[in-house]
Amino acid sequence: MRNDVRTLEWTGDGLRLLDQTVLPGRVEYVVARDVDTLVDAIRRLVVRGAPALGVAGAFGVAVAVLQAAREGWDDAALDAAVARVREARPTAVNLAAGVDRVLPFAVEGAGAVAAEAQALLDEDVRGNRAIGAFGADWILKRVGDRPLRVLTHCNAGALATAGWGTALGVVRELHERGRVEIVYVDETRPLLQGARLTAWELDRAGIPCVVQADAAAPSTILRGLADVAVIGADRIAANGDAANKIGSVGVALACHAAGIPFVVAAPWSTVDPALADGDGVPIEERPAGEIVTWGGTRTAPDGVAAFNPAFDVTPARLVTALVTETGVLEVSAGATPGRLRA
Ligand code: MRU
Repeated sequence: MRNDVRTLEWTGDGLRLLDQTVLPGRVEYVVARDVDTLVDAIRRLVVRGAPALGVAGAFGVAVAVLQAAREGWDDAALDAAVARVREARPTAVNLAAGVDRVLPFAVEGAGAVAAEAQALLDEDVRGNRAIGAFGADWILKRVGDRPLRVLTHCNAGALATAGWGTALGVVRELHERGRVEIVYVDETRPLLQGARLTAWELDRAGIPCVVQADAAAPSTILRGLADVAVIGADRIAANGDAANKIGSVGVALACHAAGIPFVVAAPWSTVDPALADGDGVPIEERPAGEIVTWGGTRTAPDGVAAFNPAFDVTPARLVTALVTETGVLEVSAGATPGRLRA
């Protein structure tokens, strides 16, 4: 992403968020100086993507500490506010982890919390650069050192992180090496993170891309039009099961059937070692309106309910490789994150 827009930035008295709900039409910001505004922004996906949620959660503690001082909260009120930030969305482990990381600094005041949150932000960008390089090296070795056709789902780019991106970090690195022919961008129903956000990022970076309906992805893969799929993750279990945006499993199954690599790019902070496998991942269910309406108009018959899980879990046996900031684990071949951490 060009340097003129930042996903999140601490202003000294609040957290400035690029409003991802209005992209690509408008570039606007929401400044959260109180916990209600931040929790609402997280729930509405003003800020989204696992690593970005981690950083938002960390700065959210600073927001809460400042608000507590301003409004004379007692410890119980501050604890409750921090818990609301921590639990604003359930699936990405990074959100709670970001809050937990900075919480010990709360006794020193908002400045100390914000400094630790900024350290997390800076680490995220550095980690994403490493993920990009490791991922590109692995893919070019495995698939072939030539311009590649890459498929991605949802948005795991600069917008979903503090900068550069995880899956899109790999794509950016491949592009810098002259090794991207085309990126197939799944539109990512229902909130269109692919069509609105990934296509925006790739376009601004000059990386050739086409947007396709999610339903086209398995066919694109089986027709031999893609060389590799690269996606992000919201929570990865010790055995390598990987939760990501709904629709990721279909991509993984098609990759398996076609014999092309399904690559998950994510920092270690997305690995939840407490989770033995993906069965325990809390899957967020979002409001029915996201499914049964289009542009404010009802599409399904009145009275028909919706099932709207925002994430799915790809079994480890379908995850060819997990690219982290420390290297690549060939998960389906048995190199699970839990085993490495143990
Ligand atoms: O609902 P979202 O937009 O927060 O979902 C985001 C994803 O599924 C991303 O792929 C994931 O968080 C990885 S971001 C680097």
